[in-house]
Amino acid sequence: MVEPVVEIHLGRAWIDQALRADVAQGLVSQPKELPPKWFYDDRGSELFDQITRLPDYYPTRREREILEREMEVIAERSGADTVVELGSGTSEKTRIVLDALRATGRLRRYVPFDNSEATLRNAAAELAAAYEGLAVHGVVGDFEHHLGHIPDGGCRLVMLLGGTIGNFPPASRKDFLAAVANAMAPGDTFLLGFDLVKDLDRLIAAYDDPEGVTAAFNRNVLSVINNRLGADFDLGQFEHEARFNAEEEWVEMWLRSRCAQRVTINGLGMTVDFAQGERVRTEVSAKFRSENIGPELAGVGLTMERLWTDAQDDYALTLSRMVG
Ligand code: SAH
Ligand code: TRP
Repeated sequence: MVEPVVEIHLGRAWIDQALRADVAQGLVSQPKELPPKWFYDDRGSELFDQITRLPDYYPTRREREILEREMEVIAERSGADTVVELGSGTSEKTRIVLDALRATGRLRRYVPFDNSEATLRNAAAELAAAYEGLAVHGVVGDFEHHLGHIPDGGCRLVMLLGGTIGNFPPASRKDFLAAVANAMAPGDTFLLGFDLVKDLDRLIAAYDDPEGVTAAFNRNVLSVINNRLGADFDLGQFEHEARFNAEEEWVEMWLRSRCAQRVTINGLGMTVDFAQGERVRTEVSAKFRSENIGPELAGVGLTMERLWTDAQDDYALTLSRMVG
């Protein structure tokens, strides 16, 4: 086995500073807002993993279905020897990708990129052990800041799966895609997974399960702030809410204050008042229309070559290429 290498760009100081800035700014805006990257400490990553197994959370299963059906074609078209995966998490579906590339005889390297260090280390160790000869080079970083640290070399298949692209509001989505394209070399390909607009009930059910796993995941951002910034959020006093914004075509996740309350954030020397019923927006999850993706990718210099959906048209994957 080749020992995995893990590069860390998120030291304690970096994380604390970024979190302080996001919290200080987000909790004085109107409406209050917290960025979704802070869901994913060890506990948050574990809760997200549980979400992917919930009966009503269809995106993971649909994406796996498409990968299983099409990965042979994708591996062939990509010509890649290196897989770079942004927001790799537990790298579970990645195995389908690595299997197909191994079958082409070209697979050499896997670069998982995530902001959750423990989750990335586990995934890196498991894949290095499972794929003999595979060089695993993990990058612990924030993909909004550290894409420049993706190692060079090889012919790369860059992937963003899980519908994560939908978690960027449109303006930052464009910046993010431009940064991804900028990190790619001519001939590299980009595999993007995104969720499609569908029936309202099914959309909401995916983000509001009866067991309360999604609610616990959503509230976990408060516990991250408690732990890292010495705040005293009472998680029981915030209710999970998922709603569909029909105009923007995205699902919004909110935490709704059950009562009028004051929260102290010691690390910021700050108190924050919540009115009863006041909400904090913690995430948007955009739902796409297939015809709009090609132009978005073209806008950053990526040429879309193929688009696949699952049998029920719930979810889509595209393969695009950086043309040199
Ligand atoms: N690709 C996996 C996980 C998707 S969940 C799947 O398809 O199931 C989103 C992943 O992105 C999580 O693992 C989270 O830790 C990571 N993530 C979220 N924001 C990030 C950021 N700003 N920088 C790097 N990783 C991030
Ligand atoms: N990227 C996932 C998505 O948009 C994240 C997610 C799933 C999520 N369930 C959630 C975020 C519930 C907040 C709350 O599908």
